[in-house]
Amino acid sequence: MKNKIKVAVLGATGFTGEMLVEILLDHPKVEVTYLASRTPNAIPYHKIFPRFYKKTDLLCENLNLDKAAKNSDIIFLTLPHTVSMSVVPQLLKEKRKIIDLSADYRIKNLKDYKKYYKIPHKDKINLKKAVYGLPEINKDLIPNTDIIANPGCYPTSVILALFPLLKEGLIEDKVIVDAKSSITGAGRKAVIDYHYSNISDNIWAYKPFIHQHTPEILSILKENTARDIDLTFVPHVVGVDAGIYSTIYITFKNKISKIEVTKIYNKYYKNCTFIRLLESLPKLKNVIGTNFCDIGFALNSNGKDCVLASSIDNLIKGAAGAAIQNMNIMQGWPESLGLL
Ligand SMILES: NC(=O)c1ccc[n+]([C@@H]2O[C@H](COP(=O)([O-])OP(=O)(O)OC[C@H]3O[C@@H](n4cnc5c(N)ncnc54)[C@H](OP(=O)(O)O)[C@@H]3O)[C@@H](O)[C@H]2O)c1
Repeated sequence: MKNKIKVAVLGATGFTGEMLVEILLDHPKVEVTYLASRTPNAIPYHKIFPRFYKKTDLLCENLNLDKAAKNSDIIFLTLPHTVSMSVVPQLLKEKRKIIDLSADYRIKNLKDYKKYYKIPHKDKINLKKAVYGLPEINKDLIPNTDIIANPGCYPTSVILALFPLLKEGLIEDKVIVDAKSSITGAGRKAVIDYHYSNISDNIWAYKPFIHQHTPEILSILKENTARDIDLTFVPHVVGVDAGIYSTIYITFKNKISKIEVTKIYNKYYKNCTFIRLLESLPKLKNVIGTNFCDIGFALNSNGKDCVLASSIDNLIKGAAGAAIQNMNIMQGWPESLGLL
């Protein structure tokens, strides 16, 4: 195990924690050294997730921050929001690098944080230092921080589709996003709405105008394009196990051709391993189990009205895969190590 970086996953019994462990166990440059949750007693990880039987003998332990810091160089937090910001200050003091998958360090505006997450932010100092880890738009900032705010799943799909067109100033302010998420987007806890009989063969819209990912989409686009949009964001839950599919309605300010739109996406994304610009609209199943974001568009014959579609696996490009992509960049390793 020489020359390997030691990594810990805090929140290892959740959906994103499980996906992280799966990818990390096969990563050539890391050794997983510590897994934790609220389990009162240490328990073999494969007793929680039997698919890890004979793959790892690691235990999942009751979360102990001293032990997490002592046993690792990089710590992934797959904890609920508000819990992450209660553990980050100590871990950063111990000089560990943090990749936080919760929303706690994504939104710099304290009023927005309180409005959408219902409690005041408790760690303003580290909030200022955190870098939003979306390598396709701000890769240069990632190696220079000790704390990465890993993007949300809906925001990843929406921001990546809109960023090049907005940055170029080509689209009208009004943007409507109709986004569909799989059921794993809601985490592993038991909720009546997500019982098999309620979720199978079902779909519903929820939290239009007030979903907590709205300020994240707006603020990250603003920071990286210096432009505002007038966003209507309508998320939906769909009875599938994995994936996010965002359909985005935009209008170009001036008439444009399909070739010109394609050129703009290529200008920003031609060197991005994990973005696949398609000639047709994406299909969800093509990204499941991958770290890709598939993007396609359909332009009306008037050359102005346009539908963008963007698809990711919520647990991979929307969470664990993106976190590992960020770790690779932080460490100066090839971005796709362990992910292709
Ligand atoms: N699911 C997605 O698609 C997705 C995508 C992007 C980002 N995220 C974000 O990633 C984070 C994890 O999401 P998830 O879907 O994996 O959630 P989850 O399935 O509910 O898992 C949460 C994990 O945190 C642990 N935990 C909860 N409270 C804790 C506490 N006070 N102390 C220690 N451990 C605690 C849970 O352990 P127990 O087993 O002990 O409860 C579990 O391991 C969330 O912030 C979520 O918003 C999720």
